[in-house]
Amino acid sequence: MKAKPLSIADPSSKRYAYRISKEENRKQSKHVAFDNIDEEDTKSNDKKIDLPKKKFYRQRAHSNPFSDHQLEYPLNPDAMDWSKLYPYYYDSDKKEMTKNVTIADIGCGFGGLLVDLSPAFPEDLILGMEIRVQVTNYVEDRIIALRNNHKAENKYQNISVLRGNAMKFLPNFFHKAQLSKMFFCFPDPHFKQRKHKARIITNTLLSEYAYVLKEGGVVYTITDVEDLHHWMVKHLEEHPLFERLSKDWESQDKCVTIMRNSTEEGKKVERKKGAKYIACFKRLPNPI
Ligand SMILES: C[S@@+](CC[C@H](N)C(=O)[O-])C[C@H]1O[C@@H](n2cnc3c(N)ncnc32)[C@H](O)[C@@H]1O
Repeated sequence: MKAKPLSIADPSSKRYAYRISKEENRKQSKHVAFDNIDEEDTKSNDKKIDLPKKKFYRQRAHSNPFSDHQLEYPLNPDAMDWSKLYPYYYDSDKKEMTKNVTIADIGCGFGGLLVDLSPAFPEDLILGMEIRVQVTNYVEDRIIALRNNHKAENKYQNISVLRGNAMKFLPNFFHKAQLSKMFFCFPDPHFKQRKHKARIITNTLLSEYAYVLKEGGVVYTITDVEDLHHWMVKHLEEHPLFERLSKDWESQDKCVTIMRNSTEEGKKVERKKGAKYIACFKRLPNPI
C-alpha cells in the first residue's frame, strides 16, 4: 500500500501518531551533540531510543528526479551549515567545523551503508543524500537513535543524511575535490529507454561527480540489473576523468566488501540469491 503524505494521512491511524511522535523527537534531538547536553538533560536522555520501524515510513518507490520537490539547498558550499548534521564535529569557540564531509552515499535509501561505513571510517564524515522525504526521515531517526544509544562511546557521530536531489544540487553542497569516495548502490534502474535520462550516471552528471571528487578518489557502483551495470560502466569508461579499477583491486578494498553486504537493497538481492554487479572507477588528474 502506498503511504500518504503526512498532511493527508488519517490522523487516527497508528502511522500518523508514530510519525508525529518521531517528528517531535527529531526536532529535539536532531542537532544535539549528545556529549554537550548538561547533567539534568543526561538523566532524562539516558533512555534508549527505539530504532525506527520501516513500515511507518513507507513511500512510493520512485521519485521524479526532474521535478522541483521544494528542496532546500545552499547557494554554495560555504553557505551550508554542517554543524546541524554533525554537531559533534563543530568547534563552538572557533565557530567552525573540525572536519568536512569526504564520503557521499548517493541515493542512500534506508541508510544501511552509512551505518556500516561509520566504524570503518572513523576519521571521515560520511553523508547520505536521499530524495524521498519519508526515507530521509527514517535515516535521520535511525542515526538519532544510534547516536543516543551509543553516546558513551560517541559512535555514529560521523554519519548524517540530507534530503536532496543529487542530480541537481551536488556542487551547491561540496567544494571542488572535496570528496574521496562516492557510492552509487543499487540506483533506480529506469528500465524504459525514454527514462534512461533519469539515470543517476550520465555524461553530464559524471562531470559534476568528477568536479567534487579529488584526484585518486573513487566512484563505487553496484547493481543487480545487468543492463544498468553495462550502462554505468560504458559511461564511466567513456568519461576522460575516470579509469576502471581492476577486479584484483576490488577484492582487496574494504568498501567493496561493505557495500556488497550492507545496503537494504543489497540484502534483498542476497535473500533472492540474485547477482550483484560491481564496478569501481578512479578519478584521474585533470588533463594539462
Ligand atoms: C533502489 S534505492 C537504493 C537505496 C540504497 N542505496 C540501497 O542500496 O539500499 C535508490 C534510492 O535512490 C534514491 N534516489 C533516486 N534518485 C535520487 C536523486 N536524484 N538524488 C538522491 N536520491 C535519489 C531513491 O529515492 C532511492 O531511495
